[in-house]
This record gives sequence, structure tokens and C-alpha cells, in this order.
Amino acid sequence: MKIAVCVSGGGTNLQAIIDKIESGEIHNTEIAVVISNNKNAYALERAAKAGIEGVCISPKDYASRAEFNKAFLDKLNSYNVDLVVLAGFLVVIPEEMIRQYRNRIINIHPSLIPSFCGTGYYGLKVHEGALARGVKVTGATCHFVDEGTDTGPIILQKAVEVLDGDTPEVLQRRVMEEAEWVIMPRAIDLIARGCVTVVDGKTVITE
Ligand code: GAR
Repeated sequence: MKIAVCVSGGGTNLQAIIDKIESGEIHNTEIAVVISNNKNAYALERAAKAGIEGVCISPKDYASRAEFNKAFLDKLNSYNVDLVVLAGFLVVIPEEMIRQYRNRIINIHPSLIPSFCGTGYYGLKVHEGALARGVKVTGATCHFVDEGTDTGPIILQKAVEVLDGDTPEVLQRRVMEEAEWVIMPRAIDLIARGCVTVVDGKTVITE
């Protein structure tokens, strides 16, 4: 299976995928390209270090969102990938792309959906919300992307404890280590092995 990984920032989820392809925990998968909307994303350096092609395509470089959307989709299509992985990608996915790649785009979100998700909940804001509400358990969710924000079929979730004294940064790190870097690579492996199907808007996992 050929995948594209879309990133905006540090790329720790990208690194987890690279490492688990290398170790054999993710089977039958090759990263064809890493696409960033931000030329300074450290994720692009991680790609370069792993010998993976990295490209930057930013809405800032286009006169309109429609032109960016077209350029983004054309670029993605040129790699002929089977799966698009959003690993901390902060750009809204164009509807045309969602239609073309129905149930072939996955995202990692740093909470247990449907808590702390939807518009405005990304990155540290998710953990700030969890701490403000005082939840005792949070986690991460890997899901297919549909036209909504964080509304697509859920593939895997993993719970993580919130501890006394947690700051958003400390909680973010724990959620990454204990959940995101585990379930995102595992979801990719399941998809690569043909173990994930979507029935009536929900996933069925067979192993
Ligand atoms: C991750 O925590 C990911 O779950 C989150 O951004 C971070 C990216 O980190 N994504 C979202 O909030 C999407 N709504 P990374 O660049 O180190 O992988």
C-alpha cells in the first residue's frame, strides 16, 4: 500500500509511522510522499532524514482557496496513493478530495471523540479543554475523514489517564506517547492488511 502523510508541525506521528514501517510492525506499506502546508515544519526534516520525498503546498501561495484546493488535489493525485494519512495536518480537507478519497483518508485526533473535537479543537486546545472540564480520562481517536470536522467513522481509540497537576503540554505528551503513536500506526497496518471496512458509517475490524 502506498500512503501520503500530510503534516503541519513537529511530525512525531509521522516519525512513529516511519519507525513502525522500518520495524515491520506496519506491514506492506510505503510512504510515497510527505505533504506539508508549512515549509518550516520539522516533519519535513524527519521525512528528509528518512529519505522520503517532502513537498510543501501552502494556501498562502495561492490567490484563492479554490486554487489551493485544486493544486493540493492535483499534487496528491500525482502520487497515486491508496491512503492519505493526516498526522497533525491543520488545513481543512477540500470536499472534492473527500469525495475522491472516500474512506481512504484517516486522521489522528488527540481526544476520545465525541469529546473535545470539532471546529476549534486542535493541538493544545484539545488538552486545555479536557483540563478545564476536569475529565479524569482522555485519549486519542483515529478515524476516517468525512465532510464534517472529526465526524467520520472511528477506527481505533485508546484511553489515557489525566493526572493531578497536568498542564496541557504534559497531558499532550502523555496522549501522544500512550495513544497516538500506538493507534495511528496500528490503524495503518490494519488498513494495509485489508482488515477495516465501513458499514453504515461505522468501521468493522476483522483480524
Ligand atoms: C497531534 O497531537 C495530533 O493529534 C494533533 O496535532 C498534533 C500533531 O503533532 N492533531 C489535531 O489536533 C487534529 N485536530 P505531530 O506533528 O508531532 O504529529
